[in-house]
Amino acid sequence: MVIEVLRDDRLAIEVRSPARRARPMAVSTDWYQRAVFYEVLVQAFFDSNDDGYGDLRGLASKLDYLQWLGVDCLWLPPFYDSPRRDGGYDIRDYYQVAPEYGTIDDFVDLVDAAHDRGIRIIIDLVLNHTSDTHFWFQESRRDPTGPYGDYYVWRDTDTEYAGVRVIFSDTETSNWTFDPVRQQFYWHRFYSHQPDLNYDNPAVQEEMLNVVRYWLDLGIDGFRLDAVTYLYEREGTDCANLPETHAYLKRLRKMIDDEYPGRIMLAEANLWPSELVDYFGDPATGGDECHMAFHFPLMPRIFMAVKRESRAPISDIIKQTPPIPAKCQWGTFLRNHDELTLEMVTGEERDYMHQHYAEDPRGRLNGGIRRRLAPLLNSDRGQIKLFTSLLLSLPGSPVLYYGDEIGMGDNIWLPDRDGVRTPMQWSVDRNGGFSRCDPSKLYLPVNAGWVYGYQAVNVERQSDQPDSLLQWTRQMLAVRKRHRALALGTYEELEGSNPSVLAFLREHTDEHGETETVRACTTCPATRSPCSSNSPGGSTATSRSSSPAARSSRRSGCGPTCSPCPATAPTGSPSRRPASARCRPRVAPPPPRPRPSCSWPRASPPDAGVRKDALLTPDD
Ligand code: GLC
Ligand code: CA
Repeated sequence: MVIEVLRDDRLAIEVRSPARRARPMAVSTDWYQRAVFYEVLVQAFFDSNDDGYGDLRGLASKLDYLQWLGVDCLWLPPFYDSPRRDGGYDIRDYYQVAPEYGTIDDFVDLVDAAHDRGIRIIIDLVLNHTSDTHFWFQESRRDPTGPYGDYYVWRDTDTEYAGVRVIFSDTETSNWTFDPVRQQFYWHRFYSHQPDLNYDNPAVQEEMLNVVRYWLDLGIDGFRLDAVTYLYEREGTDCANLPETHAYLKRLRKMIDDEYPGRIMLAEANLWPSELVDYFGDPATGGDECHMAFHFPLMPRIFMAVKRESRAPISDIIKQTPPIPAKCQWGTFLRNHDELTLEMVTGEERDYMHQHYAEDPRGRLNGGIRRRLAPLLNSDRGQIKLFTSLLLSLPGSPVLYYGDEIGMGDNIWLPDRDGVRTPMQWSVDRNGGFSRCDPSKLYLPVNAGWVYGYQAVNVERQSDQPDSLLQWTRQMLAVRKRHRALALGTYEELEGSNPSVLAFLREHTDEHGETETVRACTTCPATRSPCSSNSPGGSTATSRSSSPAARSSRRSGCGPTCSPCPATAPTGSPSRRPASARCRPRVAPPPPRPRPSCSWPRASPPDAGVRKDALLTPDD
């Protein structure tokens, strides 16, 4: 049903209400602080009608797998109608599903089926720009004085906002492109076929609020806000993070809180922590802007820390991360559908990352690295476990990327970021069990090859192997779910004299006054035995107690069978922390006095068959 509301004689702002709506999940205002997210591309997961594209029905048919794995919320990148010149982030119609992926009805069925299994769904919302094939843009270029004439950022010259960074630097040379139809330049922060919307136009602000309402009416649980820092432009600035952008996000948040309580906004803002926290809004209110924001600077530092065999990159960035409002949460991740972005590192660190993780220049894109987790780590199972353990135990809600749970590979011979978006590998069947179509019809080729091909890496095979990466990942998600401290707890790093050891406490006191402490430690080198614990490469220990003394005693030792050691020696009685301190990285206490009785054995040479590092174990 389409209702056109005429606001004045010039503007026709659409208001659409869906004919069918999915059944909402029970309202919860903190689910995202505990959830494990899973990013899944609709086109990549499962093809239900053998046309070569994954689709909404295909994804729905795999929900049992996702429930079995233990994820709480799916994040679906754009599946809107689009020419797909930027993976669907170039939207032609915000109210339509791309025909290859299905229909709005299929989407409602998917949300219902997910909710029935206790799984929530958030989708991408591209506020900043549209495709140049969008009706608004076509009208805007054709009729500058018409209702859509002012929907985009048009200028007579390309001189304004000089010096603003070009993001897709491998493809674009300017943020302005000349349009031969309108005979003016239009502003775009990404590809030249993605014109930026003009948020100074109140009609654009309204249009996008209505898009938000439409999808929330359909029953989704929230949005990942794509490229959200760039909504407004102002001369003399870097055209990012402007007060006007924050004001619009606050307005959006208020509307969601008022009309759709429990639904969330997750910001994609690639910024340093001190700027990132502004996207949570006012701490006095618990946060009145985005509920969540991706912690971009942490991600590359996990890679650096492990390669350098030093906890410093992780410790330092966590220390630089300001506290966040009580009702907010970080989104943490290792990999996603984009390149491993290196915008939040220094030039020297970028060189280091290129040298160690992207020797082949084909693996690089826009200054980052377009590879999946397993190839980045040379398919080293111990390291994959170490990285995943860190993701699941450091502060924040983890966001997994589809296929990484089985160690899927990539294909750097494909253009742009397509190499990390290939079909999910389900089995040894044709096309990896993704589709029965003729392989030449696939939207992208399925991975082949001895190491990462679907014959070697697939869900079916790993489901049958108790010690597979898939089974391990599933068990780790269950561990995380068992220990609320891993999701909601405070973070306290236990500094020790060995710079390769990262040890920390996560502590959470529940509504009954019971405190759970999770103590975690690991060594950064992946090929050395870290402690005398029987756990592979690192350990966690957990305790539940309401007595500070008991809690304190559990601070010693780095694992169930490990004697006290410098990295985890008691640092004094834990003080009770106010609930508002939850998830806030705390300034680390002074280093504990070293105890010579405990050392971190480094005797085993790297090639002595030592078990690889992992922070959590299924027994935790
Ligand atoms: C975001 C998306 C990326 C896309 C860009 C432009 O960064 O993650 O895939 O290309 O926005 O929409
Ligand atoms: Ca299909």
